[in-house]
Amino acid sequence: MCYAVPGRIVARDETAGVVDYCGEERRVRIYGEEAQVGDYVYVQGGVIVNTLPEAEAIEALETWKEMLKTLRGIDRQTVLRMLPPGTKASRPELRRGRQGDGLTHDEIRNLLAEEDPADIEALYGEANQLRHRLHGNACCVHGIIEFSNVCHRKCRYCGIRGPASISRYRMSPDEIVATASHAARELGFKALVLQSGEDYSYDRLVLAEIVRRVRQLNVLVFLSIGMRSKQTYETLFEAGARAALLRFETSNESLFARHRPGTTLEERLALIRHLKGMGYVLATGFLVGLPGETVDDIALNIAMTRSLQPDMYSFGPFLPVMHTPLRGSPTIDAQTVLKTIAATRLACPESNILVTTALETLDPSAREQALLAGANSMMINVTPKHFRPLYSIYENRACVDVEPKDAVERTVTDLKRLGRAPTDVGATEVRNQTSSLDMLGSQ
Ligand code: 5AD
Repeated sequence: MCYAVPGRIVARDETAGVVDYCGEERRVRIYGEEAQVGDYVYVQGGVIVNTLPEAEAIEALETWKEMLKTLRGIDRQTVLRMLPPGTKASRPELRRGRQGDGLTHDEIRNLLAEEDPADIEALYGEANQLRHRLHGNACCVHGIIEFSNVCHRKCRYCGIRGPASISRYRMSPDEIVATASHAARELGFKALVLQSGEDYSYDRLVLAEIVRRVRQLNVLVFLSIGMRSKQTYETLFEAGARAALLRFETSNESLFARHRPGTTLEERLALIRHLKGMGYVLATGFLVGLPGETVDDIALNIAMTRSLQPDMYSFGPFLPVMHTPLRGSPTIDAQTVLKTIAATRLACPESNILVTTALETLDPSAREQALLAGANSMMINVTPKHFRPLYSIYENRACVDVEPKDAVERTVTDLKRLGRAPTDVGATEVRNQTSSLDMLGSQ
């Protein structure tokens, strides 16, 4: 199964390029790669993963060309069905959101507080329409390998917090690379997230070696390893990692201090900013529904995510876990998370928004609803079966017993039904209508 669509470089300079996907253009970052105009490449997260021979690319594109046209048609129809032409946005926030210029704090807050079912449907419809207009039908699908559930932190919401007496595991570097190799070669993934608790037994050099070996599989190496030192992240960048996921969890300083003892919001934000400054493709975001959180907090969380200028937005519901201090806390409803996704799409039109497993766990039908409410990115768990249930940041995780191969098939089927294609979503700042000449014309 082909899991990523090759594109062709149509323009480039020292730091950026433009890749064409059968008529749709996306911006990519250039980190000194040799790929030239005319070369065919696989791109993930706006980063060139590898160049492929023309014959191979043309063969892959033969399969995709007609399919992309069909899928784009299905996506268009879906958008129109949700928002028939001529529909007048019922609320001023939606009218402003439709223009794609972003929203103010109060406007975001009003959308999140919306309770009228018709207006909520209108919010989803506008968000889906904006996603379609700015990003086309592209949907990034990354694999995730949870390589250790050991964590020395004491975050009060998290099921793998240090003090929890749960079965712990660590995958060896060879196991991690073998899992990555299976995901890349057998399942066709072009981007792999390496996730763990904050486990210092993998030191900087051990991690660097893992990154180097996984990078050799021609995938985007995406780190999700928590608050490691700047030096560690720098070494891992040098080893070939190009993306990093680090949520700030909540923008509310007192909630942060209460739920994440031993760390400060300031420290966390400084590291997130540093990751961006180092050139990592940045994914960040927050938990929705931490005990004590208000609608205002969620609106501020969206604004804080926007201010960090990430390439990918990642937020999911907080799910209370039995063996943590937050057991018995109320669980948020899926609709609040869907509204958060839709409001984020309108507030930050260029964003790539991830559908999280936590949302699917909360409500299995929410994955599809999220994709129809502005989201355009997904992850599939490819951790070996015997470790998957142990990575219990929360309980009863969706798809924990689904084989990666079946999860991939299911995801591709779902995406096709919605008219979405696993083409790259591209770097954040550029809209796909912009022509390659306009984009690099200022050089
Ligand atoms: N519910 C939902 N998400 C959680 N995370 C940690 N604990 C929980 C929970 N109980 C999220 C955090 C972290 C990510 C890896 O998992 O946001 O950044």
